[in-house]
Amino acid sequence: MTANSETVIDERGDSLTGEDPRSPRHTAALDAPAPAIRPVRLGPIDVPTPVVLSPMAGVTNWPFRVLCEEYGPDGLYVAEMITARALVARNPKALRLCRFASTERVRSLQLYGVNPAIVEQAARIVVDEHMADHVDLNFGCPVPKVTRRGGGSALPWKTDIFTELIRRVVKVCEPANIPVTAKIRVGIDHDHETFLEAGRIAQEEGCAAVTLHARTTAEYYGGHSDWSRIGELKEHLTIPVFGNGDIWGADDALAMIAETGCDGVAIGRGCQGRPWLFADIKHAFEGSDERFNPTLGEVCRVIARHARLLVEFYDGDERMAVHDLRKHIAWYLKGFPVGGSTRKAFMECESLEDVDREIGRLDPTVEFPPRVVDKPRGRVRFAKKVHLPYGWLESRTTSHEERETLFGDDPMDASY
Ligand SMILES: Cc1cc2nc3c(=O)[nH]c(=O)nc-3n(C[C@H](O)[C@H](O)[C@H](O)COP(=O)(O)O)c2cc1C
Repeated sequence: MTANSETVIDERGDSLTGEDPRSPRHTAALDAPAPAIRPVRLGPIDVPTPVVLSPMAGVTNWPFRVLCEEYGPDGLYVAEMITARALVARNPKALRLCRFASTERVRSLQLYGVNPAIVEQAARIVVDEHMADHVDLNFGCPVPKVTRRGGGSALPWKTDIFTELIRRVVKVCEPANIPVTAKIRVGIDHDHETFLEAGRIAQEEGCAAVTLHARTTAEYYGGHSDWSRIGELKEHLTIPVFGNGDIWGADDALAMIAETGCDGVAIGRGCQGRPWLFADIKHAFEGSDERFNPTLGEVCRVIARHARLLVEFYDGDERMAVHDLRKHIAWYLKGFPVGGSTRKAFMECESLEDVDREIGRLDPTVEFPPRVVDKPRGRVRFAKKVHLPYGWLESRTTSHEERETLFGDDPMDASY
């Protein structure tokens, strides 16, 4: 099967069929002997199970992180990206995203920005106000409204800004013993790859680890990530490398480590509607083949708990909580024989009572649908076009004028 050829996607780019776009090379890796898996250290932080909940805007707020961490204690669960300028402006929405539950073992936060001075200011707030124990920097976002301003995955192309941004943030975080990590992609496209150089710069500037999403900006979420690039980066660096891209089940996590030698894995879409994937991965890393395939009743209990945590997150606003929950419900119910009218009813819920009522209508004994076990979910499309600032690719560094334009345009809200 060629990558993406049989995958049916909806208008948001979400996979509907759950077809597996893995190349035969990747599925062959599943037969490889179990790799040795060791804890990873990020400065003072120990990650005994080297698995990361990859930051996902609109998804990895603390209610979802708490669920994931309950299944897989001792991984690293990263908050969704926070726009540095919004944090500096003390935008209430950004401040809400900086909150953590008291049970979270490591408070891990991701900053996004283009202007090194602004990201430094945001890091200063994080440090001075004891907001987090770990700071990740976003250099992987492929969304047009971000890359057209030179941010996310466009930024490593400009080595001067990239270096300065990391240097400034590390300088602020280091004295507070807060490790800084960088999340990158392979490059803008295959003619403009940046990952080896970006990894080297991150290491030289004091990052504690790098996560590589093994796709280019142009590849967006299409096809399969090229895990061989993770292996290349691992060979190139001495700091830990987390591999990211297309881990849909615990066996994929083992296969990625076996194939690339990476130190740990980062999971994004694979855990949407499946926070128990972190239990499966913990088991797999411990050599056990125990896996979690909950019945519909068990899934509903997770939905009900998720709903209540979200109400807490939104300070008691049930409507906001339930609206946030809607996308999760679609993921939780993926593959279950639940009719269109029930799904529609969930999407129209406005309160906890509505959610509980709809849950009460489902048959709790229904088994987890085998056809969606460890199969792709979430976004799967390629970029239509890569949007970059005018003349971006002409030089690897920025002129004074370019900086003026870029930094003036640093967005307040750069959500995915
Ligand atoms: C809905 C969504 C939101 C995302 N938001 C972020 C983000 O805030 N910061 C970031 O670095 N990456 C973000 N990503 C990228 C993921 O962290 C991850 O790198 C990507 O999904 C590839 O991993 P996967 O194949 O396991 O999904 C997002 C991805 C999705 C699907």
